[in-house]
Amino acid sequence: MKPLGPIPQGFEAIDGELAIGGRPASHWVEQAGRTPLFVYSQDLIARRFAALREAMPDRLKINYAIKANSFAPLLKFVSNLADGLDIASGGELEMVRASGFDLARVSFAGPGKREEEIEAAIAAGVTLNLESETEAERAFAIGERLGIRPRLAVRVNPDFELKGSGMKMGGGAKPFGVDAERVPTLIRRIVEAGAEFRGLHIFTGSQALSAEAVIDMQAKVLDCADRLAREAAVVLPKLNMGGGFGIPYFPGDAPLDIAAVGTALEDRFSDLPGTLADAELFIELGRYLVGEAGVYLTRIVDRKVSYGETYLVTDGGLHHQLAASGNFGTVVRRNYPVAIASRFDAEGEEEVNVVGCLCTPLDRLADKALLPHAEVGDLVAVFCAGAYGASASPSAFLGQGPAAEMLV
Ligand SMILES: Cc1ncc(COP(=O)(O)O)c(C=O)c1O
Repeated sequence: MKPLGPIPQGFEAIDGELAIGGRPASHWVEQAGRTPLFVYSQDLIARRFAALREAMPDRLKINYAIKANSFAPLLKFVSNLADGLDIASGGELEMVRASGFDLARVSFAGPGKREEEIEAAIAAGVTLNLESETEAERAFAIGERLGIRPRLAVRVNPDFELKGSGMKMGGGAKPFGVDAERVPTLIRRIVEAGAEFRGLHIFTGSQALSAEAVIDMQAKVLDCADRLAREAAVVLPKLNMGGGFGIPYFPGDAPLDIAAVGTALEDRFSDLPGTLADAELFIELGRYLVGEAGVYLTRIVDRKVSYGETYLVTDGGLHHQLAASGNFGTVVRRNYPVAIASRFDAEGEEEVNVVGCLCTPLDRLADKALLPHAEVGDLVAVFCAGAYGASASPSAFLGQGPAAEMLV
C-alpha cells in the first residue's frame, strides 16, 4: 500500500459524491458532455487570494504567473484579483491581450525570447525581464526601430537558491537571468541607452513548503537587490521578489505557513534601505493561487486484474496530468491526492492502481492506493490539478487530444 497525497481543503461530499463549487462532480461532467474534464473553482481561487492578502503586508503586490493555468475564463477571473500578470512567451502575451488585461501591468520573463516576441512586448508596453545582455541589446534596437522606449527590468541570477524548492532557478550556472555580478553594469547600460529602467526580477525557485526557506530567500532577495542597486547607483522603481510558494501534493506534505512569511516580510518592509524605499514590491505566484482549486475528473473504462493487482483503467492520463503521473520534475514518483469522486464518502477498502489510457508504463495516476471499491463508469478525481495540468501536459500524445475545462 502506498499513501495518497492530502486532499486540499474546501471539498466535501454531496449525496455521496465529490462536490466542486457546490455541485456534484457528475453534474459538471454532464454539463461538459464528456470526460476527462478539469473543473476549476472560482470560490476556492477567491478564498486563496483573500487569505494571502490578509497574511501579506498591504504594500506587497501579487502577480499571477499565467504559465500555471491560462484557461481563458480562469485567466480572466484571476486577472481581476491579481495586481499584475507574468508571461513567458509571445503566445501567453496574446492570451493576456485577449483577456483585456492592462498590458502595462504585465511582465515577460523567460530565456530565448525571439525577435518578434520582444517586438510584440515592447509595442504593447509590457516590461521585459531581461535574461541576458544580448537580449538587452536586441530590445534597444527594436525599441529604436519602433520609436518606442522599451520598459526593461533585469532578471538576476543570484548567488543563492530557494532551499528545499522543487525546482531551483537561481544560484550557480543557470540559463535564467544575468549573473548577479554583471547586473550593475547592465543596469547602467539600460539607463545610458535611454530605456525605461523598471527594476529587478529575482526568481529563485518554486514549490517550497518551508516558511523558513521562503523567509530566508526573501531576506536574501531584498539584500541582493539593495546591493546591486547601490553598485549601479540607482534606486529601484520595482522589485519582483519571485515566488516559490508551494502546495501540498504528496503524503506528509504540510501547507506553507503564509502567516509566518507575511510577518517576516512586514518586519523587513518596515526598515527598507533607500534603494527600495519607494519601490513597488511584488511576488509572482502560479500554483499557490490556482493549483488546489482544480480537480481533474476521469472515468473508469476498464477494471482488470493482473497477477493479483487490480487496475482501474481510466479515459484520462499523463497527457493531461503529467505531474500527477510523476513525470514533471519529480525524481521519485509519489501519489497525488486521488479519490473515487462518485463514491467520495465511502471508506477505502481495496488496494488498486489507477492508470490512464496511454500505452506506456509511465501513465499512472495512483499506485497501490487504498480506495473504495469502484467499477467501470465511476469517476476518479485527481486533486491539485489547477496548475500545470492542462497547461503542462502533452495532450497531443497518441492522438488523445485535450481534456475539457470548466471554471465554475
Ligand atoms: C519566472 C517564473 N515565475 C513564476 C513561476 C511560477 O512558479 P509557481 O507556479 O511554482 O508559483 C515560474 C515557474 O517555473 C517561473 O519560472
